[in-house]
Amino acid sequence: MIVCSCQTISDTDIHFAINWMRSSDPETIITPGKVYRALGKKPECGGCMKLFVSTMRKSDKLEVPAILRGMKEAGSQGNGHHERRQKSHRISQQSTAR
Ligand code: FES
Repeated sequence: MIVCSCQTISDTDIHFAINWMRSSDPETIITPGKVYRALGKKPECGGCMKLFVSTMRKSDKLEVPAILRGMKEAGSQGNGHHERRQKSHRISQQSTAR
């Protein structure tokens, strides 16, 4: 079935691209843009995006990598795991007793 008529991309092409990306990098986040790039194409009108994404979701290889699951919940619980700098790096907040 053709999913994107502008670029003549079928559901088989989408599943093939997802399988290829997942086997080459098990930890990658797969997006519609990456699928287009993997197929060497670019979206034109964007009218297919809803069907494109729903076709992607039918793939069992689309799931978020295990290492990245639960990061949002872990960050919102205030357990201190974040990538920001500590506030103590500011010179104005450091002790002047050196
Ligand atoms: S139908 Fe897919 S970009 Fe136009």
